[in-house]
Amino acid sequence: MTSEPVAHHDHHHADGPGEDPDAAAAMAELLELDGEVLHDYLAGITSWIAEQSDAAPRRILDLGAGTGTGTIALARQFSDAEVIALDNSAALLSRLQGKVADLELDSRVSWLQVDLDAEWPTLAEVDLAWACTSMHHLADGGRVLADVFATLRPGGLLVVLELDSPPRFLPDDVGSGLEARCQDAVSQLNAEVMPLLGLDWGPQLEQAGFDVVTRRRFDIDLRPPLPEAIGRYARAYLQRIRSAMHDRLEPADLRALDSLLAPDGPDSLLVRTDLVVRGTRTAWLGRRP
Ligand SMILES: C[S@@+](CC[C@H](N)C(=O)[O-])C[C@H]1O[C@@H](n2cnc3c(N)ncnc32)[C@H](O)[C@@H]1O
Repeated sequence: MTSEPVAHHDHHHADGPGEDPDAAAAMAELLELDGEVLHDYLAGITSWIAEQSDAAPRRILDLGAGTGTGTIALARQFSDAEVIALDNSAALLSRLQGKVADLELDSRVSWLQVDLDAEWPTLAEVDLAWACTSMHHLADGGRVLADVFATLRPGGLLVVLELDSPPRFLPDDVGSGLEARCQDAVSQLNAEVMPLLGLDWGPQLEQAGFDVVTRRRFDIDLRPPLPEAIGRYARAYLQRIRSAMHDRLEPADLRALDSLLAPDGPDSLLVRTDLVVRGTRTAWLGRRP
């Protein structure tokens, strides 16, 4: 469930045949590590949805499903449900397809490559729609919310989940506040290129016709000892920041980032034992009256 650190200038960045395979592979790695490291937190959200539902959902839509972290969590939580994953990236959907087959979920999970900025697919009614860190990618979130509303059954739920800020991995003393400066730079860049990032989705849901919108914050605070994947996760994340920030950070900060990103050496993220994962995510849950 992600969490890409740096927004893309182009909303259609992962669009079918024009897709950059390296960028798609890097995004896939990050999404998969995100799912692996934040597994418990995701399970907490899906069980919260179960409590809010008037009946166990039978048909679920995952908007901007990526490699399927949310799709699979939903299929596990709602073990009788069919889940339909939508995404515009063929590369990410192919990862999703592989995972679904490995987990023998193919009878309940299907996928559709669609650019939600361009069209809304023809879909039968669903009971639950889920959009995890995907709404902020869309050019016209309001239009997509209206389409979701029309596709939900009365009483059906929409859950929008977004990051409040990028996750933090480093203890505060590393690089004298290096991570805080990286985050400021990332936030500035993201604000320039992706205006929907950080939006309060509550009023948007209400405007689309949803009832009683509940907002809930989920805190993530993982401390050592953490699984080995944490180093790869932090590295994938900070690597993206490093690539996008080369002209926005001071040379000393770039050098410090390079030592953290090195595959080995005392500072390397891959060998450190002091990494943490801290951050908050907000969920908005709306019901179609
Ligand atoms: C940050 S990822 C989140 C992936 C997944 N929901 C998760 O939590 O792991 C955002 C996803 O939205 C997809 N996306 C972005 N713009 C889209 C569009 N116009 N139509 C469909 N999917 C889109 C991207 O390809 C990507 O998979």
